[in-house]
Parts: sequence; C-alpha cells; structure tokens
Amino acid sequence: MFQVKNICCIGAGYVGGPTCTVIAQMCPDVTVTVVDINEARIQAWNSDKLPIYEPGLQEVVESCRGKNLFFSTNIPEAIRKADIIFISVNTPTKTFGMGKGRAADLKYVEACARQIAEIADGYKIVVEKSTVPVRAAEIIRRIFKTSTKPSLSFQVLSNPEFLAEGTAIENLKNPDRILIGGDDNPGGQEAIATLSAIYEHWVPKSKIITTNTWSSELSKLAANAFLAQRISSINSISALCEITGADVGEVAHAIGTDQRIGRPFLQASIGFGGSCFQKDILNLIYICETLSLHEVAMYWQQVLEINDYQRRRFASRIVSCLFNTVADKKLAVLGFSFKKDTGDTRESSSIYVCKYLMDEGAHLAIYDPKVSREQIIRDLSHPTISGDNPERVSELVSIASEPYEACENTHALLICTEWDLFKDLDYERIYQKMLKPAFIFDGRRVLDGLHKKLLQIGFQVETIGKKVYPNTTVAPVYNPRQQDPTPVKKVRI
Ligand code: UDX
Ligand code: UDX
Repeated sequence: MFQVKNICCIGAGYVGGPTCTVIAQMCPDVTVTVVDINEARIQAWNSDKLPIYEPGLQEVVESCRGKNLFFSTNIPEAIRKADIIFISVNTPTKTFGMGKGRAADLKYVEACARQIAEIADGYKIVVEKSTVPVRAAEIIRRIFKTSTKPSLSFQVLSNPEFLAEGTAIENLKNPDRILIGGDDNPGGQEAIATLSAIYEHWVPKSKIITTNTWSSELSKLAANAFLAQRISSINSISALCEITGADVGEVAHAIGTDQRIGRPFLQASIGFGGSCFQKDILNLIYICETLSLHEVAMYWQQVLEINDYQRRRFASRIVSCLFNTVADKKLAVLGFSFKKDTGDTRESSSIYVCKYLMDEGAHLAIYDPKVSREQIIRDLSHPTISGDNPERVSELVSIASEPYEACENTHALLICTEWDLFKDLDYERIYQKMLKPAFIFDGRRVLDGLHKKLLQIGFQVETIGKKVYPNTTVAPVYNPRQQDPTPVKKVRI
C-alpha cells in the first residue's frame, strides 16, 4: 500500500471544511489542502472568522492551519500534488429541465471530474464525499477512462459523510461508522485499504465498513431518508396528540425505550430542515420514478408531505389562536437556523413558517444568535418565499439583535429553533414587553419544563404535540384542515 502524503479536497463547505480539518488534525504526517472556487470563502477559512459556525471548529482549524492544513483557490496545484482527492462540492436539487425539483444536479461533480482528468498525472484516488445518486461514481469513472492521458491511472471510491451540523467535530472525531465503497477487484480493494488507513489514524478498524460502490452511495441516501422518516413519523403523531390530549414527549419516551425503536431522533418539531434531508429524499424519489418503482417513490414522498404539513399546521395554529387573524399583528420569531448550534439556514422550517405568516400579513421581529440579518432577508426574499412581491419582506420583517428587543410590543413569541439560550430567558421581563393576551408558541418544545411558571406569569402557551390546557376551554379550538396555508410548491435553490 502506498504512503499518502497529500490530500486535496474540492469544496470548502459545511462538509469539506470540517471533514478535512479533522483529517489534518488526526494525520499530522499528511498535508491537507482544501480548495474552492469561491475566493471569499477561502479567505474566510484563512481568517479569524470562519465561513461557518460549528462548535469546536475554530480550535481545530487553528491547531493545524499553516502546518499541515491549507485553504486555497489554487485548485490545479492541489490536484497535481494530491494522492487522494475528495470531491465535496454541492449537489443541489435541479431547478430546471428533466428531473426539475427532484433530481440531483451533478454538474459540479462532473466539472470536478473533468478538471481532475485534465490536470492530474500518475495514480490518484478520487473520493466522492458529496451525497450523490446511486451510480454517480460511474460518471467520474467514464470521464477518467476517456481521458487521453496514458500517464493517468485512478480509482474512484464512495465515502459519504454522515456528520450532522452543530455536532460536526464530535461526529468526525468519533463517528458511528466510516463507509467506503469501491470496485470489487484488486485495484479497488487496494484503494479502499489506502483510504481506510487514513481513517485508522483515529477510528477503530471495526467501525470501518467497506462495500461495493453502489451500496455505499445508496446507503447515504437511505440513511438520510430513514432519519427524516422518523421525524415525520413522530410529527404525524404530534398532530394526533394536540387533539386527543396525549403528549408527544411522553409518547416518544414510551416508544423510544423499546430497543428496536430507540430514543434518538424522536423530537417532535416544526419539521426538519437542512441541506440534506429534503434534497436526498427528492433524489431518492426521482431515482425510484425513473426505475418505475412508483409505490416506493410515493412512500418517500409522504415523508416530505408530512414535513410541510407540520410547518403549515404550526402556522395555522398561530393564526387560529390569535383569533383567526395575524394581519398587522407583530410576532417575535426566535430562531432562524435549521437547528441549534449552526448558522446554516438551508431549508430551515423557520423560513416556511415566516412565509406562511407573512402571507397572512403578520409583522415579524426575528432573532437568531448566529444568522446574519442579510441571510434572513435573503432567505425570505427568495421568489419561492416572497412570491412576486419581495418588497413585502422589508415592510413586514425586522431583525432584532437580541431576544428581548424582538419581543417588544408583540402579540406572540414563536420558538422556531431549539437554541439552548431560549430556555434561560427572563420570561417575566418578556411578558411585560408583550401585548396581552401574550402567546408563546413553542415549535421545538424547549420550554417543556417551564409551562407551569409561564402560565403563572400569564402567558398562553401552545406547544407542538401537547395540549397545555387539557381541561379548560381557554385554548382556542382550531381546525388545521380548514385553515392550512397553501404549501410551497416550487423547490428553493
Ligand atoms: C454539499 C451538499 O449539500 C451535500 O449534500 C454534499 O454531501 C456535499 O456538498 P456542503 O458542504 O454543505 O454540502 O455544501 P456547501 O457548503 O454548498 O459547499 C460546497 C462548496 O463547493 C462551496 O463552497 C462551493 O463554492 C464549492 N464548489 C462548488 C467548488 O469549489 N467547485 C465547484 O465546481 C462547485
Ligand atoms: C443530517 C444527518 O443527520 C447527517 O447524518 C447527514 O450527514 C446530513 O444530514 P443535519 O441535517 O446536519 O444532518 O442535522 P440533523 O441533526 O440530522 O437535523 C436535521 C433536521 O431535523 C433539523 O432541522 C433538526 O432540527 C430536525 N430534527 C432532528 C427534528 O426535528 N427532530 C429530531 O428528533 C431530530
């Protein structure tokens, strides 16, 4: 097995950046260069203000940047030097042409393959890190095979990344498994062993799973689909709980203790967001449809339907509780990122909840500890969110620099992201600042332990998957079926 000295990663995003940073820290004998076409992003990686927020990332970057970890826009040089090249570019859902709204757009992966074929010489191991449709590695292989350069020899591996944002460093340092797929021939097996040796610097060999290329590619899509399906399952039960008086937290605990079901990923919410779940399920659906597996496609489609239903249901509950109108009412939105401990807003449920409330004419005062004002305005001004009236966003939305400011003169406070700090706010102070009756809509159940206190303060508390007023008529009766806003049809970019 040959000794790897240089690794190059194309794509300095949420996946490529943290992954290669941890590889550099764990393999001091290997030089890792992360390259990207986006100059500003590379500059940020080389600065004190990294382009992404991820707990622990700054420390790891600082421990090896300039020693064996480099961020650069010189893609050709990094490719030339590398023994292993990771492709970590984005694979967004197509927004045009065949497969629009479903298929993954592989143009960036293809562009990387073409660039590698043009520049590289000698032996290279090219690793698909990006999540791709099953058999995408074939594209890379065909491009290399048709390269006229006799000096180029290569192996293509699939090595999907399972890190979750907010816990990326922890996930990378202590992964549940490392999955490597490659060709079932001596060349493929040797390449797998070479890549495996990199991970073996810190991951026990028993956690490194090797498969054929297609199983590896499909496992990533399947893992994300299964995780998303769990959330839609518990969210579907949450709808039932709100009407019957069952508490979805208690139900999740009761079923989660069954080892066959397990505890994680049963937190009812306003729906899953993030760059992966929706994109990967759409991709899975598209693959099934093109292979005439219509029933399978419909099954996974329903996971997405429930996710959007949950977002609409939350918005319609707010409208209903606020006496069937939020027009010209001011609402505080706490949390805009798609989950806590990240500044990432891609496919965040907050965006959709805000959209549905803006459609009703509500004024929103938004606060998030890690998302910039520009990002929030950009997300809400996207044509699929603001429709043909982007001016509406500046009329209806204000961004607060701290949570108390957001709550000033509002009719309701909505918790859309489960940031820990929302548990420790001074709710007495918030109550004083709000119009009465003052409502809290907890879309993340972060205030579960505080209900008694909040009720004593005077709040009307509405929470996902629970009736806080089981025996009284205080809580307004709502019928989400009659009031559901129209779902967002177009796929956002
Ligand atoms: C993305 C996908 O979302 C995920 O499904 C996939 O597994 C890996 O790629 P992420 O790292 O979150 O994950 O994407 P993003 O933060 O958008 O980073 C991709 C980077 O690739 C960007 O910085 C972009 O500038 C860069 N890029 C894209 C290139 O360097 N070259 C290209 O040709 C295209
Ligand atoms: C996911 C996968 O977990 C990861 O393995 C893959 O590599 C990328 O996609 P990520 O999207 O970063 O990671 O975060 P994740 O923790 O999975 O959360 C996704 C969404 O589901 C978030 O909006 C989160 O709030 C929501 N969620 C998660 C719930 O609503 N309930 C839960 O119980 C868990």
